[in-house]
Amino acid sequence: MNEFAFYNPVKLLFGKGQLRKLTNELTNYGKKVLVVYGGGSIKKNGLYDEVMTLLTDHGMEVHELAGVEPNPRVSTARKGAAICKEKEIDFILAVGGGSVIDCVKLIASAAKYEGDAWDLVIKKALPTDALPFGTVLTLAATGSEMNAGSVITNEETQEKHGWGSPFSFPKFSILDPTYTISVPKDQTVYGIVDMMSHVFEQYFNNAANTPVQDELCEGVLRAIMEAGPKLVEKLDDYDLRETILFAGTWGLNGFLQMGYRGDWASHGIEHAVSAVYDIPHAGGLAILFPHWMRHNVKANPARFAKLAVRVFGVDPAGKSDEEVAYEGIDYLRAFWSSIGAPETLGDYKIDDSKLELMAEKAAGNGTIGNFVKLGKDDVIEILKASL
Ligand code: NZQ
Ligand code: ZN
Repeated sequence: MNEFAFYNPVKLLFGKGQLRKLTNELTNYGKKVLVVYGGGSIKKNGLYDEVMTLLTDHGMEVHELAGVEPNPRVSTARKGAAICKEKEIDFILAVGGGSVIDCVKLIASAAKYEGDAWDLVIKKALPTDALPFGTVLTLAATGSEMNAGSVITNEETQEKHGWGSPFSFPKFSILDPTYTISVPKDQTVYGIVDMMSHVFEQYFNNAANTPVQDELCEGVLRAIMEAGPKLVEKLDDYDLRETILFAGTWGLNGFLQMGYRGDWASHGIEHAVSAVYDIPHAGGLAILFPHWMRHNVKANPARFAKLAVRVFGVDPAGKSDEEVAYEGIDYLRAFWSSIGAPETLGDYKIDDSKLELMAEKAAGNGTIGNFVKLGKDDVIEILKASL
């Protein structure tokens, strides 16, 4: 293991009916709340009305920012920060999926910053303060509800970057599986792919002596692979929603990543693809990740083989690590295809005309990834294989 410090202050309120605790959680933050949400799913499933009733009954002064895009844009965060400054907002409440939460993280920091919100994303300036915020999660996928990361798109420059700060942890996150039941099939599949990818990104690390971490990662993956396909067939099953919601939070709340540095190249490449083509994050991951794996098997066949045996159930008898590894990757590809995830960039009508641009955005003149360091040419090879 590498040395590490661990800190995660997010209070989780998980389970049926937890929304009733919302106003209690808001007690110490003042009366003016900005509620931020996406394109309207919370109006259709009734959550909007429930939240608004709770807040107004509690005597809160409620302001709203609607329309946060999937792949949230810096222009929307700028709008939110301007509202916070103008109305002297005390607290921000994100009601939605990872995009809404990520947008709120930037709004919260930008509200306390005099310059442009994008400065914080590209690390031209570091946040020194932020408004407090909480979340009501409606989609199991990113883990943003319990981490300090945020991924923002600049639509003018076609850039998409992750950033975060110690001020970007939600004060609390309310996770009631009930509110994820309305998530449609395609987004449910994306969520499953995203949370699995987060665990893979962490599993592929170079630290020695991480048996506890390995078991945790493998267990989370097995639970997702057990529940995921059943959920895709039965979208209104509460227990399956509960399992997947909990797994998504565990996928990226920092607990699995103690004692090592994950790889994260596939996420970097995907962010470059969705910066240019605005495709769903995990749609991109489902296409790219198996190709990242194939590209890197030779760097550490034993690690890929371990995953194949312990998570994908590959029988290693009489096979080399490399053979087992490739069999595992084929299994993963087939698993994701079986639940309806996309297979090629062509599924999003992406051709080879911008490979260079995307590789440049992902790796620049340096490298990307930690388990294996990839240069621009490697990224182009992975993208070509994904066409
Ligand atoms: O906008 P609305 O109308 O709410 O609809 C959303 C959106 O269209 C819909 N949806 C959400 N909850 C629903 C629902 N539809 C019906 N019923 C519900 N209960 O789902 C669509 C996608 O929502 P979005 O928030 O974009 O999805 P997700 O949670 O997958 O977030 C994706 C974003 O998170 C970033 C991605 O890059 C992408 O921008 N990521 C953030 C991370 C983090 N902060 O830690 C890590 C991830 O790796 C990821 O990069
Ligand atoms: Zn992700």
